[in-house]
Amino acid sequence: MLEGMIKEVLIDEKQLKDRIKEMGKNITNHYNEDDEIVMVCILRGGFIFMADLVRQVELPVSCDFMDVTSYEGGTTSTGNVRIIKDLEESIEDKHVLIVEDIIDTGLTLKHVINMLKTRKPKSIKVCTLLDKPERRTEKEVEADWNGFEIPNEFVIGYGLDYDEKYRNIPYIFIPEPELYEG
Ligand code: PRP
Ligand code: MN
Ligand code: MG
Repeated sequence: MLEGMIKEVLIDEKQLKDRIKEMGKNITNHYNEDDEIVMVCILRGGFIFMADLVRQVELPVSCDFMDVTSYEGGTTSTGNVRIIKDLEESIEDKHVLIVEDIIDTGLTLKHVINMLKTRKPKSIKVCTLLDKPERRTEKEVEADWNGFEIPNEFVIGYGLDYDEKYRNIPYIFIPEPELYEG
């Protein structure tokens, strides 16, 4: 399917697995057993990471999902963050852990955090698999747990799409330009 389209595998399956296990441990150690914790997956990119991460967290967490988008099919952010699907549950007095696949400019997270703050959660923390610090325009946006700091390259796989495709690729790769130049 991807023949000749992969420039470089940036993070392979073993690296993902090992790192996510570590992150799960760190998150488990941070909270208390009797804390009410809601893990909030930012769709759609976050769904694969969330599924693997939550199974490495040894706490009675609940899972909720929020769909926001800013890229609208392209390769760079348009800056317009749209809420497509809101959370199902109230987060008032609960510990919120936002789960993202990547922080790029930080616009998506900034918007989501500001919105969730108004709902009076006990705390808001952020866990991201990837961080692209070079691209950050929202300097105040930072993750509490960050899997991998990556260079300013377009990356795909493990939840991250190009034009809604390739989220199912089990590793993270930098594509050859042929992939998005058709
Ligand atoms: C991507 C990614 C993050 C966000 C990061 O989502 O999954 O949510 O962009 O970019 P930012 O820091 O510049 O805001 P996208 O809007 O492409 O939607 P998707 O998750 O459905 O692919
Ligand atoms: Mn996303
Ligand atoms: Mg996307």
